Amino acid sequence: MATTAQTTASAVPAYTPAIAEATRPLFEKVSDIIPEIEWPSFAPYVHEINRLKKERNAVILAHNYQTPEIFHTIADFTGDSLQLAREAAECDADVIVQCGVHFMAETSKVLAPEKKVLIPDMEAGCSLAASITGADVRLLKEKYPGVPIVTYVNTSADVKAESDICCTSSNAVQIVESLGTDRVLMIPDEYLAQYVATQTEVEILTWKGHCEVHERFSPADIETYRKSHPGVVVLAHPECPPDVIAAADFTGSTSGLINYVDQKRPKRVVMITECSMSDNVAVEFPDVDFVRPCNLCPHMKRITLPKILDTLQHMRHEVHVDQAVAKGARASVEAMLAII
Ligand code: 13P
Ligand code: SF4
Repeated sequence: MATTAQTTASAVPAYTPAIAEATRPLFEKVSDIIPEIEWPSFAPYVHEINRLKKERNAVILAHNYQTPEIFHTIADFTGDSLQLAREAAECDADVIVQCGVHFMAETSKVLAPEKKVLIPDMEAGCSLAASITGADVRLLKEKYPGVPIVTYVNTSADVKAESDICCTSSNAVQIVESLGTDRVLMIPDEYLAQYVATQTEVEILTWKGHCEVHERFSPADIETYRKSHPGVVVLAHPECPPDVIAAADFTGSTSGLINYVDQKRPKRVVMITECSMSDNVAVEFPDVDFVRPCNLCPHMKRITLPKILDTLQHMRHEVHVDQAVAKGARASVEAMLAII
């Protein structure tokens, strides 16, 4: 019978007593959010991924929206877009396995061209990144000559390469104000740009991109959470529509929301953002009661343990960025990193 080395299922060890024993400390970490009955289906992958990443000198970078078994049991570094980009540039590894979406993997490659950057699913996209192309930015530059272009990191390398500087949701206001101009073009997230406009005197022109996850929240959702969970503190990501942000108690990037919980320790909180955030953060703050709204990012959820193992086993799904594009994109990302 022909065998194929590409078959991942056969390469995954069964849930043996030895694996149960070896992964017990990891399970204990997540036992409040992962039911014990599910652990045998995760543990063999977790065990093998953790073994293989050492053998490959690979690091696993996981965004705050990854599921808890990825976030807490195999990731070497976790964080928001900015933290992951920084880690990609600074880490001492030959291989980066990006557990996030494609623009994050591209950013890692742009900042660490000498490293092999792998993404477990090439189709893990982003509605914001898909909303604009490099050609669109060239047209904007013709239409608004001299107006600096501040580009959200949730974009392709091609778009970054056409921009003056990048920003993330954690530093957008600071980046806009650093430019010393009266007007900037902030692309492609219309809602993030509108939020920034409420925080600065600089005039913000924008684009009509939206995050398909955050745009689904409404002020009525917040009213419902407040009624059904008295005293709940509402934290919203700036990719949410303006009326949602206006109804929230605090707005910040994914790491900004985590820091809020860490510093203020509210009794009860709701994070108006992607589902997995609350699960991941709840592990660190068992005394805080998390109300858990669930709007899933279908792109983030393409990344799974079997795909991560497959990627590491076969060193496939490598992310490449054209050298000239990478040079332009790097300049925009580094311009941001130089300011914050
Ligand atoms: P952060 O930079 O806040 O992690 O956001 C990334 C993202 O994709 C949010 O939807
Ligand atoms: Fe893109 Fe929204 Fe998913 Fe973030 S949550 S990756 S912005 S689609």
